[in-house]
Amino acid sequence: MKDSKFLRALDLQKNSIPPVWFMRQAGRYLPEYQAIRKNYSNFLDMCKQPKICAELALQPIDRYGLDASILFSDILTIPDALNLGLGFYEGEGPKFSNPISSPQDIDKLMPFDVNNLDYVFKAVEETKNLLPKNIPLIGFCGSPWTLAAYSIEGGGSKDFNKTKIFMKENPDELQKFLEILSNACYEYLRQQVLSGVNALQIFDSWADLLVNNELNRFSLKYTQMLTHLLKADPVTANIPIILFEKSPNKKIVDILFEEITCASLHWKEDIKKVAKKLKNKYAIQGNLDPKILLNSDESIWDETQKICNVMKDYPGFIFNLGHGITPDIDPCKVQVMINAIRQ
Ligand code: CP3
Repeated sequence: MKDSKFLRALDLQKNSIPPVWFMRQAGRYLPEYQAIRKNYSNFLDMCKQPKICAELALQPIDRYGLDASILFSDILTIPDALNLGLGFYEGEGPKFSNPISSPQDIDKLMPFDVNNLDYVFKAVEETKNLLPKNIPLIGFCGSPWTLAAYSIEGGGSKDFNKTKIFMKENPDELQKFLEILSNACYEYLRQQVLSGVNALQIFDSWADLLVNNELNRFSLKYTQMLTHLLKADPVTANIPIILFEKSPNKKIVDILFEEITCASLHWKEDIKKVAKKLKNKYAIQGNLDPKILLNSDESIWDETQKICNVMKDYPGFIFNLGHGITPDIDPCKVQVMINAIRQ
């Protein structure tokens, strides 16, 4: 796929106009998404329909002509495949009927079988069939830490207190679980690549729960275990890896490691400062605060151009938001942002 601006950027090459895609680009802010979503009471049932996933992944590509597509699925498919019983119901976030409540639950886990996620790999194939030939598809997984946090908490939460207590009381068992998840993520991403994805993103959405050496001990160590496995495998060795850390207590420049191709910057990071340190070593993706999209067109235009101006000579820049787009955003505001990037 030679004519992809997105893949060129991941290869640290300059583009006169930066490629753009954004986290959660297929989702509830789009009326065409809602039209399909209303047919399913449980979001996960929709994720298990490969043809529907392909259609959903294409929606933002068709609407905005974005430079990359992301697989339509969820990070929580892995804990679901480990039999934790995931459901997403009306007005609630994710919920596990069978969460990890004790160290014994980790011992009792059935071995991970990547074939349980066949529906995801079929979705990759279906999406590749529909995508224009020059638009790459991004595969993804949650970081082992972020998956562990949801699995222990039993779903989403403001403070993840159960997870924090579990970490303090059972650090060794938690690490055992993180190792299981690292291997599962590796097999999962490997199969996504075999099915056709062109790049991989790892979402460490709960990095900010970890302070001081906890970030290394419970998150980065296992993300690195995963990326080592990917780099040692000829199937995945050459696939670019993007890392998103949500507002960690350390700066992204102090976290990155060799196997990562691209840092996906949280909106709290100062992109200018980060760019100075990462130039010619890592690609950068980011990092407009998604809340800016609630502002006036002028403000969206200005803030978008500010980022593009700072990054105009950076080899390997991809425009993105600094976290996922939220359901309250007007799709027309997204068009304003894209026009500001491409004008
Ligand atoms: O375009 C895309 O990015 C679609 C694919 C995608 C989804 N989730 C679909 C989804 C991706 C890449 C994800 C990643 C994901 N899922 C993350 C990491 C990114 C981040 O935002 O930090 C996390 C933490 C999850 C877990 C998750 N999935 C939660 C907490 C929720 C409920 C709250 C919410 O944000 O909606 C989901 C549901 C979910 N995943 C939806 C979509 C489109 C909404 C489901 C609905 O329509 O009800």
